[in-house]
Amino acid sequence: MKTVLFNRAAQGRALVDRVALLGRHSDSPHHYTRTFLTPAHRAAASQIGDWMREAGMAVRVDAIGNVIGRYEGGSRTLLMGSHFDSVRNGGKYDGVLGILVPIACVAELHARGERLPVSIEIAAFSDEEGARFQTGFLSSRALIGRSDPAVLERKDADGIAFTEAMRGAGLDPARIGEAKIDPATLAAYVEVHIEQGPVLLAEGLPLGIVTVIAGSSRHLVTVTGEAGHAGTVPMPVRHDALAAAAEMVLALERRCGAGGSLVGTVGMLKVRDGTGNVIPGEVEFTCDIRAGDDELRRAADRDVVAAFEDIASRRGVKLALSRPNEMLAVPCSPRLQDALERSVASVGVRPRRLPSGAGHDAMMLAEVTEVGMLFVRCGAGGVSHNPAETVSAEDAGIAAEALLHFLRGFTSPA
Ligand code: HGY
Ligand code: MN
Ligand code: MN
Repeated sequence: MKTVLFNRAAQGRALVDRVALLGRHSDSPHHYTRTFLTPAHRAAASQIGDWMREAGMAVRVDAIGNVIGRYEGGSRTLLMGSHFDSVRNGGKYDGVLGILVPIACVAELHARGERLPVSIEIAAFSDEEGARFQTGFLSSRALIGRSDPAVLERKDADGIAFTEAMRGAGLDPARIGEAKIDPATLAAYVEVHIEQGPVLLAEGLPLGIVTVIAGSSRHLVTVTGEAGHAGTVPMPVRHDALAAAAEMVLALERRCGAGGSLVGTVGMLKVRDGTGNVIPGEVEFTCDIRAGDDELRRAADRDVVAAFEDIASRRGVKLALSRPNEMLAVPCSPRLQDALERSVASVGVRPRRLPSGAGHDAMMLAEVTEVGMLFVRCGAGGVSHNPAETVSAEDAGIAAEALLHFLRGFTSPA
């Protein structure tokens, strides 16, 4: 029987068309933003479920809103997936590609009536970015039974409570724990993701194999000074919370500019009751420090906090750090790296192993099973978390063909 080849070009075009279609489900008519349990998020969840069913999968929605498709095979389960929420004004491929590529592979297996020595599950994670409630990795945490109860207290920017949003989507906040899966059933977790950086683009490679996922130290910083009249308070006696915060932001940038894989970012900064003719009394900002090496990151974190304390004392403002959140760097399984490398080579691509500066749901799954990641070239200069983010149809097709090769060759660990 003639082997019908995987139609890479057609598959790639279909994948980018689906990314575009899913990208229309946005919280905003002006740009692509899809946050946890909004109407756009629920519409996307429903569309993903339909595509999973079309691919021959049984579909369930779990207690935290993850959409999980299952394709029966052997007793152990190879879990794949990524997230379908986004950052504000983000890119349409971040997360979504890692859901749609595996669905395309399962659809191909289903069309050929192929079953594998493992069952396959694809998890479309409902909240990884945490853009609405600052709940990073909410859904993959729930899957491994590591939910943070503090998230139940959160409110979004419109004052809507996390618990209210869940009930509005037909989910019971008291039952989040039911999302936990039995790790003993897992053979491994593999995530396909856009690289979100320039390395593969610079080297002319469509695919890469992830070696390690960078760890992070995150804080919510509150600076409290003294509000006052912008016209009457002499400069030397001010306790300007925003001026102090600005100095802290530059101190973070300076310390994290020390080189290597170290990076530092302030992504959000809010002046409380900010008014043009009032000296800012209180400022809140986020602090995000990352590195591929945990000691490098922890040293930077210590130095940055010490610098914040020094600035606060010199300027006579109060400093408070809350919601500390450390994630250790996660090495990817050497066995899965080798298997992914064989599959990348099988589609004629020079294998390239590289670290991930971005965090991924794989970091959570690594607590309970072996993880591997396949990167897909990021176009438009390698930019991500930006509406310009893109992946070519050709690269999407190559990724699907490589993943299909990986699936067909996958064997459960002993
Ligand atoms: O922050 C990250 O690295 C991911 O986009 N959540
Ligand atoms: Mn992201
Ligand atoms: Mn992502």
